[in-house]
Amino acid sequence: MTDLRLAPRTGREVRVRAPGKVNLSLRVGSRRPDGYHPLATVFQAVSLYEDVVASASDELRVSVSGPQADLVPTDDSNLALRAARALAARTGVDDGVHLHLHKGVPVAGGMAGGSADAAAALLACDAFWGTALPREELHEIAAELGSDVPFLLMGQTAVGSGRGDLLTAALSRGEYHWAFGVRDAGLSTARVYAEFDDLAAGHPEPAVDGDVALLQALRAGDAPAVGALLHNDLQDAAVELAPGLVETLSVAEDAGALGVVVSGSGPTVAALARSRQHALVIAAAMTAAGVADSVLTASGPVPGARLVAGSDVL
Ligand code: C5P
Repeated sequence: MTDLRLAPRTGREVRVRAPGKVNLSLRVGSRRPDGYHPLATVFQAVSLYEDVVASASDELRVSVSGPQADLVPTDDSNLALRAARALAARTGVDDGVHLHLHKGVPVAGGMAGGSADAAAALLACDAFWGTALPREELHEIAAELGSDVPFLLMGQTAVGSGRGDLLTAALSRGEYHWAFGVRDAGLSTARVYAEFDDLAAGHPEPAVDGDVALLQALRAGDAPAVGALLHNDLQDAAVELAPGLVETLSVAEDAGALGVVVSGSGPTVAALARSRQHALVIAAAMTAAGVADSVLTASGPVPGARLVAGSDVL
């Protein structure tokens, strides 16, 4: 990954790093009248990062680098730009900013890379413009930008309810090692939820009670138990839209993963490993079997979006 601290500097800059996430458990209820689905989820932030640099500009603009940069829109739909615009509207700032995003989280992969950009952009602009909003207000803007954005401000491990934006921190012991099988062709979150609706109706209201054993395993640092309890109600819908995922899941399982699951709305496959070394073995197995376009390894939990060394903060 590019070390942004080594990048050339021109003028004042603020640098923020935000992680991606996996849903260790994702329970989804029936579509609400507002189009969203009620969730009960357990998030873990993992060490794949979006790095955002804010610097001076007359206008609001964004540029992108990283392995899948060409897949990221730089128009008004870009979540980092939307975050900057939302913060400016809330605080009455009418300065510009240039946001450069270096992407380390798979694009449209179910790991919330776009939401991480939004979380990072909020913090970066808040520091760059000196608006110093209280955390709760940043959280409110984050929730308006997307269901996963508040968690990426928070990081670590958390239980999410509502549409994923109502958070309670969860205790977690130890370090969890992951191998990820990534596909170049991402899945649209909205499309996966629509497929979920088509596959079956009348889902019960999801409750975090379903994850008591998982939360206990996390508290105990019991990785095999966590692996056995990984769960995703969106998995069948993701597999319906990307049938090759069945093979990716089974290759990771055959490589001895403690558990395998589609991450969020997919199509990234997350495999929990016994160790950092074992994560590399699982990643190599996915590469050798040709069941992923690329592979990544990471660990969690890690902190949420935060300013990094090299920032010039007011
Ligand atoms: O909140 P976010 O913008 O990330 O969601 C993208 C899309 O995913 C929504 O427009 C909606 O179709 C779907 N979604 C949902 N229920 C949720 C979260 C997202 O239906 N809890």
